[in-house]
Amino acid sequence: MARFKLAVLISGRGSNLQSLIDACADPAYPAEIALVVSNIPDVLGLERAKKAGIPTAVLSHKNFNDRESFEDALDAIIREAEPDLVCLAGFMRILTEGFVRRWPDRLINIHPSLLPAFRGLHTHERVLEAGARFAGCTIHFVRPAMDDGPIIVQAAVPVHAGDDADSLAARVLAEEHKIYPLAVRLIAEGRARVENERVIVDAATPPPGALINPAPGETA
Ligand code: GRF
Repeated sequence: MARFKLAVLISGRGSNLQSLIDACADPAYPAEIALVVSNIPDVLGLERAKKAGIPTAVLSHKNFNDRESFEDALDAIIREAEPDLVCLAGFMRILTEGFVRRWPDRLINIHPSLLPAFRGLHTHERVLEAGARFAGCTIHFVRPAMDDGPIIVQAAVPVHAGDDADSLAARVLAEEHKIYPLAVRLIAEGRARVENERVIVDAATPPPGALINPAPGETA
């Protein structure tokens, strides 16, 4: 059976892209990456794609006078690859409503917080400042508002007493690398669909138990 085709948009390191590349390397995984697009030249993510033999494109937003003309060009490049799904993976450009509406329920994003908390940048610093006991990450369908849209998968991690933004980011990132391939699998297999702006996941078994931080054993 033909595999579900992905276009992945990046701006940098591409560790989430790598998690998708690794997942797609398994012939049993239901998706493959048809194209990687970066708006920044010479980033590590492009190297990762090339090493995996995936076609790449660089489209610098600096070469365009306005957001709309950049997005028109971006849309044309993506469409040539005929993807079933467009995955934002550390793509650091805000997309306009016009672009988002061209990919209804076919555009997903990863955000390093438990949405709808901590939208925007510097999530880990803000989690620490707020004294939250949990942090996490979210894969969601993209809507015009920033970091908004139906949630597909989330992972939660505890905040540790000695954490700084880097140690917390590393703990969250390890989970990002698990949930991006999971979300893509659910969509590719037709097991995650949007109904009334919520994602219904077929056959999702809720994880057992609750996460409590600090752990009750330590405080009793
Ligand atoms: C990740 O933390 C992702 O959640 C955020 O940007 C970062 C990208 O990292 N949107 P990478 O380029 O995938 O390594």
